[in-house]
Amino acid sequence: MFEQEKKRALEHFEKLLDEQLARAERIKATKEFVDYANLDRLVIGVCGGDGIGPYISQVSKDMLEHLLKEEIEAGKVELREINGLTIENRAACGKAIPDDVLAELKECHVILKGPTTTPRQGDPWPNIESANVAMRKELDLFANMRPVKVPDQGIDWVFFRENTEGGYAVGSKGINVNDDLAFDFVVTTTEGTERIAKLAFEYAKNNGINRVDIVTKANVIKTTDGKFLNICKEIAKDYPNIAVDDWYIDIMTAKLVDEKRRRDFRVMVLPNLYGDILTDEAAEFQGGVGTAGSANIGKRYAMFEAIHGSAPRMVSEGRAQYADPCSMLRAVVMLLRHIGRTDKAEALEKAMDICCYEEKAVVITGRPDGATGKEFGEYIKSKL
Ligand code: IPM
Ligand code: MG
Repeated sequence: MFEQEKKRALEHFEKLLDEQLARAERIKATKEFVDYANLDRLVIGVCGGDGIGPYISQVSKDMLEHLLKEEIEAGKVELREINGLTIENRAACGKAIPDDVLAELKECHVILKGPTTTPRQGDPWPNIESANVAMRKELDLFANMRPVKVPDQGIDWVFFRENTEGGYAVGSKGINVNDDLAFDFVVTTTEGTERIAKLAFEYAKNNGINRVDIVTKANVIKTTDGKFLNICKEIAKDYPNIAVDDWYIDIMTAKLVDEKRRRDFRVMVLPNLYGDILTDEAAEFQGGVGTAGSANIGKRYAMFEAIHGSAPRMVSEGRAQYADPCSMLRAVVMLLRHIGRTDKAEALEKAMDICCYEEKAVVITGRPDGATGKEFGEYIKSKL
């Protein structure tokens, strides 16, 4: 019975297996991080994206231009606009990232990216893979660092979401075995887990944080999450001054709402899908996903973006210019820090904190009763 289906499914699985075995080898080859602070010429690619993307990207690009004016004029930094990462172009090419766009991205050192539309079933677009997910994989951006801060509630979290494995590694390559049975695959590699765990513990150590929480569902997803948990605990042994706790994702989701307990969390390390979900929840405490930025870090490249999508509804309702640029501006803070422009990063972060948490003289509502993103950008600039 089912001989044909089984044969087809096994062939499909064998192909995925070959790809992942090759990837597991490949990622072991890159040992050191590039030191961006000491490059003679640094290229920052800027991709506008879709929906509200071009609007909030423009505000963010202006801010970068303003902050790096001298270095840009001296030819030490180049801001390079990369077009073609729009859903129209991706759909026309039938690719998550068209080849020429990918080649351009690879010529940059770091990338600032506006949100891109991810097609889903029923959309007018072909059901191609998400451009985010593809970029993270193509550039091996293995760590997704997502800070969330609500100072007056004592919340100061940094999530280290594994960014290339878990349910996402072959998320667009599952198989419908027959009409009754569908399979997806979850992937954990030793190197993939070690490198995210090390980054999380190093971050804690370098920032004087004495606690790291590991979040999985290893009680049920025993093999892949079990491996993730075990490796994180192994890495933890190299950091004897950092306390480690492990949580299951369901209870962690609840604990983030627990006002008495949640202040204790500082650094969390977790597999891809749990990181995706938990960081949207976390951002909500800070004022919503529109306020949260995200750094996608690899050893060779890094990409900085908002944690949210392209909000097509804001565009169709004619409100795109009122979109909150803070998510991308927070990503700019992380970008500046990553390229070693720490003083500029701190200046922008401080100005944003004044505008978003303290003075609040200009307010974004996402609607015409609030400021436009451009106006908010100018407000922040006035506090630099
Ligand atoms: C994110 C987004 C993406 C993800 C989507 C757009 C594919 O939700 O960056 O968190 O799931 O990673
Ligand atoms: Mg998400």
